[in-house]
Amino acid sequence: MRAQNVSRRKFLKDASAGTLATVAAGTMSAYGKAGTTRDALAVLGGSPVRAKPFASWPPVTAEMEQSLVTAFRSGKWGRTLQGAMQGAGLVVEFEKRFAELIGAAHCLATGSCTQSLHTALHAVGVGAGDEVLVTPCTFIASIQAVLMCNALPVFVDVDLDTYQMDPDKIEPLVNGNTRAVEPVHIGGLPCSMEKIMAVSKKHGLKVVEDAAQAHLAEFRGKKCGTFGDLGCFSFQSSKVVACGEGGAIVGNDEALMEQCYTFHNLGLSAKAGSAAIGTKYRMHELEAAILLPQLVTLAQQTQTRNDNAAYLARRLGEIPGIAPQKLHEGATKAAYYIYGFRYQKEHFNDAPKQKFLRALRAEKIPFTTMYFDELNKQPFLEHTLNSPTFQKIFSKERLKRYREENRCPSNDQLSAEGIWLPQYVFLGDKKDMDDIADAIAKIHDHRDQLARV
Ligand SMILES: Cc1ncc(COP(=O)(O)O)c(C=O)c1O
Repeated sequence: MRAQNVSRRKFLKDASAGTLATVAAGTMSAYGKAGTTRDALAVLGGSPVRAKPFASWPPVTAEMEQSLVTAFRSGKWGRTLQGAMQGAGLVVEFEKRFAELIGAAHCLATGSCTQSLHTALHAVGVGAGDEVLVTPCTFIASIQAVLMCNALPVFVDVDLDTYQMDPDKIEPLVNGNTRAVEPVHIGGLPCSMEKIMAVSKKHGLKVVEDAAQAHLAEFRGKKCGTFGDLGCFSFQSSKVVACGEGGAIVGNDEALMEQCYTFHNLGLSAKAGSAAIGTKYRMHELEAAILLPQLVTLAQQTQTRNDNAAYLARRLGEIPGIAPQKLHEGATKAAYYIYGFRYQKEHFNDAPKQKFLRALRAEKIPFTTMYFDELNKQPFLEHTLNSPTFQKIFSKERLKRYREENRCPSNDQLSAEGIWLPQYVFLGDKKDMDDIADAIAKIHDHRDQLARV
C-alpha cells in the first residue's frame, strides 16, 4: 500500500505550507477532537484515528448456540418434517414472533429476502409484460426479483436528501402496464409511505415493500413492511437479524399470504394439496433456531444504533462537505442497517471520492459504497432486455422508450457522492462515534494533501 512507503519525514517535507503552519501552531480543527488532527493522514504515514476494531458481526451468543444445538440434535431440520402445517416447529414459531414484532397479522419465513420479493411480487400478480416501479438505489435483488417475474423494472429517481424513491416522481411513470410499486427502505430509514400509498391507491397499484434493511423502522408510528400489500425482510449475515441467508414476508391478507405459502412450497398449498405453480423457497429449522434469540435483543440494539447515529449526525453536520442521509418528514423511527452520507468533493479540494475513501480506510473506519451502483445502468439489465424471453414479451417500441427514459440524474449524483458506514459500528458508544467523526474531520483538515493519496 502506498501509505506504507511514505515516511513521516517525507510527509513533513512534502506537506503544504498551510498544513505545516497548522501543525506547528498546534491549532485544532473546528470539527475534530484535540489530538486527532495534528497527526498526518494515516494514508500518508500518520497514525490512524481508530486504534481498535469495531464490534464484530454477526453476533454469536450463548443463547443462539444453545438454540442451534438443540435444533440440530432434534434431527428435524426441515420445516415440513416438524409438522409445521399443524403449527409446530421453530420456523412456525419464528413466523409468529416476527409477525407480532412487526405488527402484521401473518408472516411467512423464506430462504432469503430475494426469494421473499420474488414470491411476494408473484403473489400480488406481477407477471410477464407488467411493469414495476423501483428505485435504483438498492441491492440488485430488488431488481432481479422483478425481472424473475418477466416484468420490467421502471426506475424512479431518488430524493438527494433521504436517498429514497422520490414519491413525486412516481406518477409520471405510471402506464397501463404498471402493476406494482416496490419501495425500498434504503439504509433502514423509512420511505415516504403516505405519499407512495396515496399514488398507488389512485392508480390501483399493488405495493410490495422491500424492507430487507428496515427491521423495526417506523413511519408515523407504523412499522415498515406493513404499509403495502406485502413487506419483505432479509436475515442475510450482515443484516441486524442474521442467520446466514434467510428472509420473511409479512402481510395482513390471509388469502394473499396463503398464495405466498403455496408459491414458496412448490405450488403445494397448506390447505388443499397441489394448487399452482411454485418453487422451493422454504426456511429451514436451523435458520429459525439462530434467529429466534435475536428477536429478544433487536429492540434494544435498534435503540442503541439510533442514539449513536443521532450523535454522529450532529458531529458530521459540523464538517463542511459531509451531508448525512436525512429521515423523511413523517419517519418516526430509524432502524439503521447502514448509515449514509454524501461526500461533497468541492469542500475537500475537489479530491475524488476514491481518494477520500482511501484516506478513510487508512484511518481504520469501515465503510461500503454498495447500493450506490447506478443499478439502472448495469449490464445485467441490458442483457435481460436483449434475452429471447424479454424480446418476446415486450415490444421493440416499449424497450426503445424504456431505454430513452431510463434516466435518474439524482441517483447518479448520489452514487458519485454516497458512502455508507455499517450498522455494527453503531452498537458501541459515543467514543466510537467520535472516532468516526474525528477521522473525517482529520481528512477535511488535511484536504490539501488528498491529491497525493
Ligand atoms: C434492499 C435489499 N433488498 C433485498 C436484499 C436481498 O436480501 P437477501 O440477501 O436476503 O436475499 C437485500 C440484501 O442485502 C437488500 O439490502
